[in-house]
Amino acid sequence: MKVAVLKERRRYEARVAATPDTVKKLIGLGLEVVVEAGAGAGASIADSAYEAAGAKIEGDLAAALKGAGIVLKVQRPLAGKDGDVDELALIDKGAVLIGLLAPYSGDHVAAYAAAGITSFSLEFVPRITRAQSMDVLSSQANLAGYKAVIDASSAFGRAFPMMMTAAGTIAPARVLVMGVGVAGLQAIATARRLGAVVSATDVRLATKEQVQSLGASFVAVENEETKQAETSGGYAKEMSDEYKKLQAELIQATIQKMDIVICTALIPGRKAPTLVTEAMVKSMKPGSVIVDLAVEQGGNCELSQFAKTVTKHGVTIIGPANLPAEIAVDASMLFSKNVLNFVTPLIDKDTKSLKIDGEDAIVKGSLLTQNGQIVHPSLVAKPGE
Ligand code: NAI
Repeated sequence: MKVAVLKERRRYEARVAATPDTVKKLIGLGLEVVVEAGAGAGASIADSAYEAAGAKIEGDLAAALKGAGIVLKVQRPLAGKDGDVDELALIDKGAVLIGLLAPYSGDHVAAYAAAGITSFSLEFVPRITRAQSMDVLSSQANLAGYKAVIDASSAFGRAFPMMMTAAGTIAPARVLVMGVGVAGLQAIATARRLGAVVSATDVRLATKEQVQSLGASFVAVENEETKQAETSGGYAKEMSDEYKKLQAELIQATIQKMDIVICTALIPGRKAPTLVTEAMVKSMKPGSVIVDLAVEQGGNCELSQFAKTVTKHGVTIIGPANLPAEIAVDASMLFSKNVLNFVTPLIDKDTKSLKIDGEDAIVKGSLLTQNGQIVHPSLVAKPGE
Protein backbone atom coordinates (compact mmCIF):
# COMPACT_ATOMS: atom_id res chain seq x y z
CA MET A 1 0.00 0.00 0.00
CA LYS A 2 1.23 3.46 -0.90
CA VAL A 3 1.57 6.18 1.74
CA ALA A 4 1.87 9.80 0.59
CA VAL A 5 3.60 12.41 2.76
CA LEU A 6 2.72 15.87 1.50
CA LYS A 7 4.34 19.26 1.73
CA GLU A 8 2.40 21.57 4.08
CA ARG A 9 0.98 24.53 2.18
CA ARG A 10 -0.96 26.36 4.87
CA ARG A 11 0.33 29.67 6.17
CA TYR A 12 2.47 29.57 9.34
CA GLU A 13 3.10 25.82 8.94
CA ALA A 14 6.62 24.43 8.67
CA ARG A 15 6.27 20.95 10.14
CA VAL A 16 6.09 17.67 8.25
CA ALA A 17 4.16 14.48 9.09
CA ALA A 18 7.02 11.99 8.56
CA THR A 19 10.78 12.00 9.11
CA PRO A 20 13.37 9.67 7.56
CA ASP A 21 13.23 7.66 10.79
CA THR A 22 9.45 7.13 10.62
CA VAL A 23 9.63 6.53 6.85
CA LYS A 24 11.94 3.57 7.57
CA LYS A 25 9.47 2.23 10.12
CA LEU A 26 6.51 2.68 7.75
CA ILE A 27 8.42 0.73 5.11
CA GLY A 28 9.13 -1.88 7.79
CA LEU A 29 5.35 -2.29 8.15
CA GLY A 30 5.25 -3.32 4.48
CA LEU A 31 4.19 0.08 3.13
CA GLU A 32 5.59 1.98 0.16
CA VAL A 33 6.30 5.65 1.00
CA VAL A 34 6.19 8.57 -1.42
CA VAL A 35 7.28 11.99 -0.14
CA GLU A 36 6.41 15.14 -2.04
CA ALA A 37 9.59 17.02 -2.97
CA GLY A 38 10.42 19.71 -0.43
CA ALA A 39 8.04 18.31 2.22
CA GLY A 40 10.75 18.33 4.88
CA ALA A 41 12.31 21.69 4.02
CA GLY A 42 10.68 23.60 6.90
CA ALA A 43 12.01 21.00 9.32
CA SER A 44 15.50 20.97 7.76
CA ILE A 45 15.03 17.52 6.23
CA ALA A 46 16.41 17.18 2.70
CA ASP A 47 14.69 15.08 0.05
CA SER A 48 17.88 13.01 -0.12
CA ALA A 49 17.47 12.03 3.55
CA TYR A 50 14.00 10.64 2.81
CA GLU A 51 15.39 8.89 -0.25
CA ALA A 52 18.16 7.33 1.83
CA ALA A 53 15.47 6.06 4.20
CA GLY A 54 13.76 4.28 1.30
CA ALA A 55 11.10 6.78 0.20
CA LYS A 56 10.43 7.80 -3.37
CA ILE A 57 10.52 11.57 -3.93
CA GLU A 58 7.80 12.93 -6.17
CA GLY A 59 7.86 16.48 -7.50
CA ASP A 60 4.28 16.48 -8.72
CA LEU A 61 1.52 16.64 -6.10
CA ALA A 62 -1.04 14.77 -8.24
CA ALA A 63 1.46 11.99 -8.91
CA ALA A 64 2.36 11.78 -5.20
CA LEU A 65 -1.31 11.30 -4.33
CA LYS A 66 -2.30 9.02 -7.21
CA GLY A 67 -2.98 5.54 -5.86
CA ALA A 68 -2.08 6.49 -2.26
CA GLY A 69 -4.11 4.47 0.26
CA ILE A 70 -2.88 6.60 3.18
CA VAL A 71 -2.22 10.36 3.14
CA LEU A 72 -0.22 11.86 6.01
CA LYS A 73 -0.52 15.58 6.75
CA VAL A 74 0.16 17.93 9.62
CA GLN A 75 -2.68 20.32 8.77
CA ARG A 76 -5.81 19.54 6.80
CA PRO A 77 -5.46 19.57 3.00
CA LEU A 78 -6.21 22.72 1.05
CA ALA A 79 -9.59 22.48 -0.59
CA GLY A 80 -11.68 24.65 -2.91
CA LYS A 81 -10.75 28.29 -2.46
CA ASP A 82 -8.30 27.65 0.44
CA GLY A 83 -5.32 28.21 -1.85
CA ASP A 84 -4.13 27.93 -5.41
CA VAL A 85 -3.92 24.13 -5.17
CA ASP A 86 -6.83 21.84 -4.34
CA GLU A 87 -5.09 19.02 -2.46
CA LEU A 88 -8.37 17.44 -1.39
CA ALA A 89 -9.56 17.01 -4.97
CA LEU A 90 -6.42 14.99 -5.75
CA ILE A 91 -6.87 12.46 -2.93
CA ASP A 92 -8.21 9.11 -4.18
CA LYS A 93 -11.67 7.95 -3.16
CA GLY A 94 -11.29 5.38 -0.38
CA ALA A 95 -7.95 6.78 0.83
CA VAL A 96 -7.30 7.30 4.53
CA LEU A 97 -6.38 10.85 5.52
CA ILE A 98 -4.59 11.40 8.85
CA GLY A 99 -3.67 14.78 10.36
CA LEU A 100 -4.73 17.73 12.49
CA LEU A 101 -8.02 18.11 10.64
CA ALA A 102 -9.54 20.87 12.83
CA PRO A 103 -12.97 19.19 12.71
CA TYR A 104 -14.91 22.09 14.24
CA SER A 105 -13.64 24.88 12.02
CA GLY A 106 -15.60 24.78 8.78
CA ASP A 107 -17.49 22.36 6.57
CA HIS A 108 -14.50 20.41 5.28
CA VAL A 109 -15.46 17.22 7.15
CA ALA A 110 -18.58 17.00 4.99
CA ALA A 111 -16.33 17.39 1.94
CA TYR A 112 -14.23 14.39 3.09
CA ALA A 113 -17.40 12.32 3.40
CA ALA A 114 -18.59 13.47 -0.03
CA ALA A 115 -15.20 12.60 -1.54
CA GLY A 116 -15.37 9.09 -0.03
CA ILE A 117 -12.28 9.70 2.10
CA THR A 118 -11.80 7.94 5.43
CA SER A 119 -10.49 10.65 7.72
CA PHE A 120 -8.89 10.54 11.17
CA SER A 121 -8.42 13.68 13.24
CA LEU A 122 -5.39 13.42 15.50
CA GLU A 123 -6.80 16.09 17.86
CA PHE A 124 -9.56 13.62 18.73
CA VAL A 125 -7.32 10.71 19.74
CA PRO A 126 -8.60 9.91 23.24
CA ARG A 127 -6.16 10.65 26.06
CA ILE A 128 -6.09 7.08 27.32
CA THR A 129 -2.88 5.41 28.47
CA ARG A 130 -2.60 3.23 25.34
CA ALA A 131 -2.77 6.32 23.12
CA GLN A 132 -0.18 8.42 24.95
CA SER A 133 2.43 7.80 22.27
CA MET A 134 -0.03 9.12 19.65
CA ASP A 135 -0.96 12.27 21.58
CA VAL A 136 -0.10 15.14 19.24
CA LEU A 137 -1.82 17.68 21.50
CA SER A 138 0.68 16.89 24.25
CA SER A 139 3.77 16.57 22.07
CA GLN A 140 3.10 19.89 20.36
CA ALA A 141 1.77 21.83 23.39
CA ASN A 142 4.86 20.89 25.36
CA LEU A 143 7.09 22.49 22.71
CA ALA A 144 4.76 25.49 22.45
CA GLY A 145 5.08 26.09 26.19
CA TYR A 146 8.86 26.02 25.91
CA LYS A 147 8.98 28.30 22.87
CA ALA A 148 6.57 30.81 24.43
CA VAL A 149 9.03 31.43 27.26
CA ILE A 150 11.99 31.66 24.89
CA ASP A 151 10.10 34.19 22.74
CA ALA A 152 9.11 36.14 25.85
CA SER A 153 12.72 36.26 26.98
CA SER A 154 13.91 37.64 23.66
CA ALA A 155 11.22 40.34 23.61
CA PHE A 156 12.04 41.27 27.22
CA GLY A 157 14.60 44.01 27.67
CA ARG A 158 15.92 42.42 30.82
CA ALA A 159 17.56 39.18 31.95
CA PHE A 160 15.66 36.28 33.53
CA PRO A 161 18.07 35.14 36.26
CA MET A 162 19.20 37.13 39.25
CA MET A 163 22.79 38.28 38.66
CA MET A 164 25.06 39.83 41.24
CA THR A 165 27.81 41.72 39.49
CA ALA A 166 30.36 44.32 40.52
CA ALA A 167 28.28 46.88 38.64
CA GLY A 168 25.10 46.04 40.45
CA THR A 169 22.49 43.38 41.08
CA ILE A 170 19.94 42.35 38.48
CA ALA A 171 16.63 41.21 39.99
CA PRO A 172 15.16 37.96 38.65
CA ALA A 173 12.27 38.21 36.20
CA ARG A 174 8.83 37.43 37.59
CA VAL A 175 6.79 35.12 35.38
CA LEU A 176 3.09 34.25 35.69
CA VAL A 177 1.81 31.20 33.81
CA MET A 178 -1.98 31.15 33.33
CA GLY A 179 -3.36 27.67 32.71
CA VAL A 180 -1.32 24.70 33.84
CA GLY A 181 -2.00 22.01 31.23
CA VAL A 182 0.75 20.50 29.12
CA ALA A 183 1.94 23.84 27.65
CA GLY A 184 1.73 25.63 31.01
CA LEU A 185 3.76 23.00 32.84
CA GLN A 186 6.55 23.23 30.26
CA ALA A 187 6.40 27.03 30.39
CA ILE A 188 6.89 26.88 34.17
CA ALA A 189 9.80 24.44 33.85
CA THR A 190 11.47 26.52 31.13
CA ALA A 191 11.09 29.83 32.98
CA ARG A 192 12.47 28.21 36.14
CA ARG A 193 15.46 26.83 34.22
CA LEU A 194 16.17 30.32 32.96
CA GLY A 195 16.21 31.55 36.55
CA ALA A 196 12.90 33.38 36.80
CA VAL A 197 10.68 33.49 39.87
CA VAL A 198 7.54 31.75 38.66
CA SER A 199 3.88 31.74 39.75
CA ALA A 200 1.06 29.89 38.05
CA THR A 201 -2.71 29.78 38.14
CA ASP A 202 -5.39 27.31 37.11
CA VAL A 203 -8.98 26.52 37.99
CA ARG A 204 -8.18 22.83 38.42
CA LEU A 205 -6.87 22.33 41.93
CA ALA A 206 -5.07 19.14 40.85
CA THR A 207 -2.49 21.43 39.26
CA LYS A 208 -1.46 22.98 42.60
CA GLU A 209 0.87 20.13 43.50
CA GLN A 210 2.31 19.99 39.97
CA VAL A 211 3.06 23.72 40.07
CA GLN A 212 4.71 23.47 43.47
CA SER A 213 6.75 20.41 42.48
CA LEU A 214 8.27 22.52 39.68
CA GLY A 215 9.37 25.13 42.22
CA ALA A 216 6.69 27.69 41.33
CA SER A 217 4.01 29.16 43.57
CA PHE A 218 0.32 28.54 43.01
CA VAL A 219 -1.94 31.56 42.87
CA ALA A 220 -5.63 30.76 42.54
CA VAL A 221 -9.05 31.26 44.01
CA GLU A 222 -9.71 28.06 45.94
CA ASN A 223 -13.34 27.54 46.90
CA GLU A 224 -16.17 25.01 46.67
CA GLU A 225 -16.46 25.60 42.91
CA THR A 226 -12.83 24.76 42.19
CA LYS A 227 -13.36 21.35 43.80
CA GLN A 228 -15.58 20.56 40.80
CA ALA A 229 -13.75 22.56 38.14
CA GLU A 230 -12.31 19.50 36.42
CA THR A 231 -14.29 17.27 34.03
CA SER A 232 -13.92 13.48 34.16
CA GLY A 233 -11.63 13.86 31.12
CA GLY A 234 -9.25 16.09 33.09
CA TYR A 235 -10.24 19.34 31.35
CA ALA A 236 -11.44 22.63 32.82
CA LYS A 237 -15.09 23.67 32.95
CA GLU A 238 -16.43 27.14 32.23
CA MET A 239 -16.54 28.89 35.63
CA SER A 240 -19.43 30.89 37.13
CA ASP A 241 -19.59 34.70 36.92
CA GLU A 242 -19.02 34.89 40.69
CA TYR A 243 -15.83 32.81 40.36
CA LYS A 244 -14.65 34.88 37.38
CA LYS A 245 -15.04 38.04 39.48
CA LEU A 246 -12.95 36.66 42.34
CA GLN A 247 -10.36 35.33 39.89
CA ALA A 248 -10.14 38.73 38.14
CA GLU A 249 -9.51 40.49 41.47
CA LEU A 250 -6.73 38.04 42.30
CA ILE A 251 -5.13 38.35 38.84
CA GLN A 252 -5.36 42.13 38.99
CA ALA A 253 -3.48 42.15 42.31
CA THR A 254 -0.88 39.64 41.05
CA ILE A 255 -0.23 40.81 37.51
CA GLN A 256 1.11 44.26 38.42
CA LYS A 257 4.10 42.59 40.07
CA MET A 258 4.83 40.45 37.00
CA ASP A 259 7.29 41.00 34.14
CA ILE A 260 6.18 38.15 31.88
CA VAL A 261 2.77 36.51 31.50
CA ILE A 262 2.37 33.27 29.55
CA CYS A 263 -1.30 32.57 28.76
CA THR A 264 -2.30 28.98 27.98
CA ALA A 265 -5.80 28.65 29.46
CA LEU A 266 -8.26 26.75 27.27
CA ILE A 267 -11.66 25.13 27.62
CA PRO A 268 -12.23 22.42 24.98
CA GLY A 269 -14.76 23.35 22.30
CA ARG A 270 -15.28 26.91 23.65
CA LYS A 271 -13.74 30.32 23.30
CA ALA A 272 -10.69 30.71 25.54
CA PRO A 273 -11.50 32.42 28.87
CA THR A 274 -10.62 36.12 29.04
CA LEU A 275 -8.27 36.39 31.99
CA VAL A 276 -6.19 39.52 31.27
CA THR A 277 -8.24 42.66 30.66
CA GLU A 278 -7.02 45.93 29.20
CA ALA A 279 -7.08 47.47 32.71
CA MET A 280 -4.76 44.70 33.90
CA VAL A 281 -2.37 45.31 31.01
CA LYS A 282 -2.40 49.02 31.88
CA SER A 283 -1.38 48.21 35.44
CA MET A 284 1.71 46.22 34.34
CA LYS A 285 5.20 47.68 34.33
CA PRO A 286 6.40 49.16 31.02
CA GLY A 287 8.59 46.65 29.19
CA SER A 288 6.57 43.66 30.43
CA VAL A 289 5.74 40.90 27.94
CA ILE A 290 2.61 38.79 27.45
CA VAL A 291 2.65 35.71 25.20
CA ASP A 292 -0.91 34.55 24.50
CA LEU A 293 -0.87 30.95 23.32
CA ALA A 294 -4.66 30.89 23.47
CA VAL A 295 -4.91 33.55 20.74
CA GLU A 296 -6.14 31.06 18.13
CA GLN A 297 -9.16 30.33 20.37
CA GLY A 298 -9.87 34.02 20.96
CA GLY A 299 -7.07 34.68 23.45
CA ASN A 300 -6.76 34.94 27.24
CA CYS A 301 -5.70 38.57 26.91
CA GLU A 302 -8.20 41.09 25.60
CA LEU A 303 -5.54 42.93 23.60
CA SER A 304 -3.71 40.06 21.89
CA GLN A 305 -3.99 39.75 18.12
CA PHE A 306 -3.56 36.56 16.12
CA ALA A 307 -0.17 36.29 14.37
CA LYS A 308 0.84 39.76 15.56
CA THR A 309 3.05 41.34 18.17
CA VAL A 310 1.55 44.58 19.45
CA THR A 311 2.65 47.06 22.09
CA LYS A 312 -0.17 48.41 24.25
CA HIS A 313 0.31 50.60 27.33
CA GLY A 314 4.06 49.86 27.16
CA VAL A 315 3.51 46.09 27.27
CA THR A 316 4.58 43.82 24.38
CA ILE A 317 1.78 41.36 23.59
CA ILE A 318 2.69 38.42 21.37
CA GLY A 319 -0.11 36.42 19.68
CA PRO A 320 1.71 33.50 18.03
CA ALA A 321 0.01 31.84 15.07
CA ASN A 322 1.65 28.44 15.37
CA LEU A 323 4.41 28.06 17.96
CA PRO A 324 5.17 24.36 17.36
CA ALA A 325 5.90 25.25 13.71
CA GLU A 326 8.52 27.74 14.94
CA ILE A 327 10.43 24.84 16.44
CA ALA A 328 9.70 22.66 13.44
CA VAL A 329 12.58 20.19 13.66
CA ASP A 330 11.67 18.82 17.08
CA ALA A 331 7.95 19.35 16.55
CA SER A 332 8.09 17.31 13.31
CA MET A 333 10.13 14.58 14.95
CA LEU A 334 7.59 14.14 17.75
CA PHE A 335 4.55 14.63 15.49
CA SER A 336 5.86 12.03 13.02
CA LYS A 337 6.39 9.51 15.83
CA ASN A 338 2.82 10.17 17.04
CA VAL A 339 1.60 9.56 13.47
CA LEU A 340 3.65 6.36 13.12
CA ASN A 341 2.26 5.07 16.43
CA PHE A 342 -1.25 5.88 15.21
CA VAL A 343 -0.79 4.20 11.81
CA THR A 344 0.93 1.03 13.07
CA PRO A 345 -2.15 -0.62 14.65
CA LEU A 346 -4.19 0.20 11.51
CA ILE A 347 -1.96 -2.05 9.36
CA ASP A 348 -2.58 -5.78 9.34
CA LYS A 349 0.74 -7.52 9.95
CA ASP A 350 -0.02 -10.40 7.57
CA THR A 351 -1.69 -8.72 4.65
CA LYS A 352 0.25 -5.39 5.01
CA SER A 353 -2.97 -3.61 4.24
CA LEU A 354 -5.36 -1.41 6.21
CA LYS A 355 -7.57 -3.07 8.78
CA ILE A 356 -9.66 -0.51 10.63
CA ASP A 357 -11.25 -1.93 13.77
CA GLY A 358 -14.40 0.13 14.26
CA GLU A 359 -14.73 -1.14 17.84
CA ASP A 360 -11.31 0.13 18.95
CA ALA A 361 -11.53 3.14 21.32
CA ILE A 362 -8.80 5.06 19.51
CA VAL A 363 -10.41 4.51 16.10
CA LYS A 364 -13.87 5.37 17.45
CA GLY A 365 -12.55 8.51 19.09
CA SER A 366 -10.72 9.89 16.06
CA LEU A 367 -12.58 8.63 12.97
CA LEU A 368 -14.44 11.51 11.31
CA THR A 369 -15.69 10.05 8.04
CA GLN A 370 -16.06 6.60 6.51
CA ASN A 371 -18.01 5.11 3.59
CA GLY A 372 -19.24 8.51 2.46
CA GLN A 373 -20.66 9.46 5.87
CA ILE A 374 -19.66 11.66 8.79
CA VAL A 375 -19.40 9.16 11.64
CA HIS A 376 -17.89 11.03 14.60
CA PRO A 377 -20.55 11.35 17.35
CA SER A 378 -19.65 14.99 18.06
CA LEU A 379 -20.24 15.93 14.40
CA VAL A 380 -23.34 13.90 13.63
CA ALA A 381 -26.47 15.99 14.18
CA LYS A 382 -28.75 14.18 16.59
CA PRO A 383 -32.50 14.06 15.83
CA GLY A 384 -34.20 17.20 17.12
CA GLU A 385 -31.01 19.31 17.13
P1 NAI B 1 -5.96 22.59 27.80
O1 NAI B 1 -5.05 22.98 26.70
O2 NAI B 1 -7.37 22.21 27.49
O3 NAI B 1 -6.04 23.80 28.88
C1 NAI B 1 -4.88 24.35 29.44
C2 NAI B 1 -5.11 24.65 30.90
O4 NAI B 1 -5.94 25.82 31.06
C3 NAI B 1 -5.79 23.54 31.70
O5 NAI B 1 -4.95 23.14 32.76
C4 NAI B 1 -7.07 24.20 32.21
O6 NAI B 1 -7.45 23.72 33.49
C5 NAI B 1 -6.67 25.66 32.25
N1 NAI B 1 -7.79 26.60 32.33
C6 NAI B 1 -8.98 26.56 31.66
N2 NAI B 1 -9.76 27.60 32.02
C7 NAI B 1 -9.05 28.33 32.92
C8 NAI B 1 -9.32 29.53 33.64
N3 NAI B 1 -10.48 30.17 33.51
N4 NAI B 1 -8.37 30.00 34.47
C9 NAI B 1 -7.20 29.35 34.62
N5 NAI B 1 -6.87 28.21 33.95
C10 NAI B 1 -7.80 27.71 33.13
O7 NAI B 1 -5.29 21.46 28.67
P2 NAI B 1 -4.28 20.30 28.23
O8 NAI B 1 -2.91 20.78 28.26
O9 NAI B 1 -4.78 19.69 26.98
O10 NAI B 1 -4.48 19.29 29.44
C11 NAI B 1 -5.78 18.95 29.88
C12 NAI B 1 -5.77 17.78 30.81
O11 NAI B 1 -5.40 16.59 30.15
C13 NAI B 1 -4.83 17.90 32.00
O12 NAI B 1 -5.52 17.37 33.11
C14 NAI B 1 -3.69 17.02 31.63
O13 NAI B 1 -3.00 16.54 32.76
C15 NAI B 1 -4.44 15.92 30.93
N6 NAI B 1 -3.59 15.15 30.01
C16 NAI B 1 -3.69 13.79 30.05
C17 NAI B 1 -2.92 13.02 29.22
C18 NAI B 1 -3.03 11.54 29.26
O14 NAI B 1 -3.48 11.00 30.23
N7 NAI B 1 -2.64 10.87 28.20
C19 NAI B 1 -1.99 13.64 28.27
C20 NAI B 1 -1.99 15.07 28.30
C21 NAI B 1 -2.79 15.78 29.14
